[in-house]
Amino acid sequence: MDPSPVQYSSVKHTVIHPNFLHTNSTSHRWAFSAIAELIDNASDDAQATQFCIDLQQFEVTGEDGTSKEVDTLVFMDNGTGMNPLQLHKMLGFGHSDKSSNARAIGRFGNGFKAGSMRLGQDALVLTKCTTSQSAGFLSQTFLKATGCEDILVPMATWDLEGRRLGAGQADLKQSLDAIMRYSIFQACSSQLY
Ligand SMILES: Nc1ncnc2c1ncn2[C@@H]1O[C@H](COP(=O)(O)OP(=O)(O)OP(=O)(O)O)[C@@H](O)[C@H]1O
Ligand SMILES: [Mg+2]
Repeated sequence: MDPSPVQYSSVKHTVIHPNFLHTNSTSHRWAFSAIAELIDNASDDAQATQFCIDLQQFEVTGEDGTSKEVDTLVFMDNGTGMNPLQLHKMLGFGHSDKSSNARAIGRFGNGFKAGSMRLGQDALVLTKCTTSQSAGFLSQTFLKATGCEDILVPMATWDLEGRRLGAGQADLKQSLDAIMRYSIFQACSSQLY
């Protein structure tokens, strides 16, 4: 029998501690190389013809009830976007389907994580493709506040008319709760439900 992952399916998985998000980001000595990771990702998408960077301020309420203005870097491209499976891979480590594309800059499946976590504590990805629109949240704030020992990535998906997909899935309510509580969109979070 050829070797396959199935024959080792009971072997323990490794666990990546949330502190690794910061550790991994220290490969960027300065912010501009981190920004370059996000520009590279947009430019790898042959369909993307526009890329914008904006600085916005959002008012958020902390766990102690006080509100504050948070500086937020917004990166936007008009490429093909991602379906939920692709978004889940993006938020993980080492997944890259670019190796067959000689023109692509990306190779290692790590740039987004290293770059975004160098620029801020939290990254909320909003993406739309031909079949769905999704939110995914890579958040050191959420992981620290909840004492997670592993990296959880809250995700939610809607169809193009705004109907929530996978409503029966156990993780959805918890994912929306995490996004509502810890992301900049807490002010308008009731619209997510
Ligand atoms: N702006 C984007 N639009 C669409 N898909 C994206 C975008 N940014 C990232 N992705 C997807 O997420 C994956 C992971 O991105 P990431 O930057 O972490 O790794 P990579 O670009 O594949 O390799 P590298 O580590 O060399 O940057 C990409 O391979 C791509 O499939
Ligand atoms: Mg990349």
